[in-house]
Amino acid sequence: MTSSAFWMPFTPIEAAKNPLRVASGQGSWLVLEDGSRLLDGISSWWVNLHGHGRREIAEAIYQQALTLEQVIPAGLTHGPAEALAEGVVSHLPEALCRMFYSDDGSTAVEVALKMAVQYWWNQGETRRTRFLAFEGAYHGDTLGAMSVGDRTSGFSDPFRPLMFEVAYLPFPSTWEGDEGVEVKEAAALKALDMALAEGADTLAGLIVEPLIQGAGGMRFCRPEFLQEIQARMKAAELLVIYDEVMTGFGRTGEWFACVKAKTSPDMVCLSKGITGGFLPLGATVATKAVQDAFLGDHPSRTFWHGHSYTANPLGCAAGLASLKLMEEEPFRKIEAWHRELGEGVRKHPRLSRFRVMGTIAAMELLSDGSGGYFDASGPLLRKAFLDAGVLLRPLGNVIYILPPYCITEEELARIYETIISVVDALSS
Ligand SMILES: Cc1ncc(COP(=O)(O)O)c(C=O)c1O
Repeated sequence: MTSSAFWMPFTPIEAAKNPLRVASGQGSWLVLEDGSRLLDGISSWWVNLHGHGRREIAEAIYQQALTLEQVIPAGLTHGPAEALAEGVVSHLPEALCRMFYSDDGSTAVEVALKMAVQYWWNQGETRRTRFLAFEGAYHGDTLGAMSVGDRTSGFSDPFRPLMFEVAYLPFPSTWEGDEGVEVKEAAALKALDMALAEGADTLAGLIVEPLIQGAGGMRFCRPEFLQEIQARMKAAELLVIYDEVMTGFGRTGEWFACVKAKTSPDMVCLSKGITGGFLPLGATVATKAVQDAFLGDHPSRTFWHGHSYTANPLGCAAGLASLKLMEEEPFRKIEAWHRELGEGVRKHPRLSRFRVMGTIAAMELLSDGSGGYFDASGPLLRKAFLDAGVLLRPLGNVIYILPPYCITEEELARIYETIISVVDALSS
């Protein structure tokens, strides 16, 4: 029996009546209460970098809990918070060196947006409250994060009056064999040029999911596009925020997407993989130039933002243990496996737009429906994958694989085989 006291996120109430009951997790596998197993092809909402039940992280949390479980971080500091900040920034471009903690991906984005607005306000530029963002973007479910997300999905319709003004740019989404990418990039850059020409004096900055838009359909763009954006934003002296909540910590095949794209934004938002999937934690890393705008004695110059569990020692200890596991760069091997195993997808008549970047692969089921998140094929695919023992969560007709880094080539092959057999069965 499912408890009706638990109101599930992102789940229609009727659909939540008979959820699968999970008892435990080990490596790439989840074990259900009835003893059956599920291969986790999405790292449980993109968080479990090293798989489930990693002893090294569990031990680190346990030891930290015996030592210091929590302390107010305003005016007080502790070793794990400092060490994790040092460890994370050591893998980011040199200019990104000031890490502000929060609780999750949405709050990491909220912090970046507020920091950007106050960065200008502290310099007497009080009209700079608008942002540039991308069609198809997803930055979280709190009001600010939702405001810079795509507004066509329907998720945010009831809240439209509460959201602030954003100018949207097209996202030049691309895939293997796409011959139109340069045309799409040129159109997006033209839209950026126009937005800058029209309202540069009221803009605070631009926010983008670098290289891969996640929830919007695992849409990829090229590094060259991000480099062009950076050049234009730098020339306009505006801030660039990278939302690396999903792409951070190895997902794109490099430590961070900004590193892979050879770009250096003014702020980077992090969460999801930061604790290896053990505890909620968010962080916004800014440049010293951004932080310098907050210097000064007058109270109005301070960034008055903080959450009760900010820089929680347990989360930071988990983050440090995860960083240690990342030292061997387990994410690097997965891209080659995707490219090889994707052969069946490339040849399949009902699958198209195959794309691979680092640990992530995505493809689209040719469907009779609308496409997009609410395409009717999504729930059908999801159920069929679960029935076949694989946890995948298609975004409408977009099927993607985002595995934990402990996955073996055989396990990944099993996911590809399941995708092909499910699509074959749905087509027959
Ligand atoms: C790019 C991106 N930003 C922000 C978020 C929001 O993170 P959270 O769900 O931890 O609030 C997500 C979540 O999927 C995301 O993919």
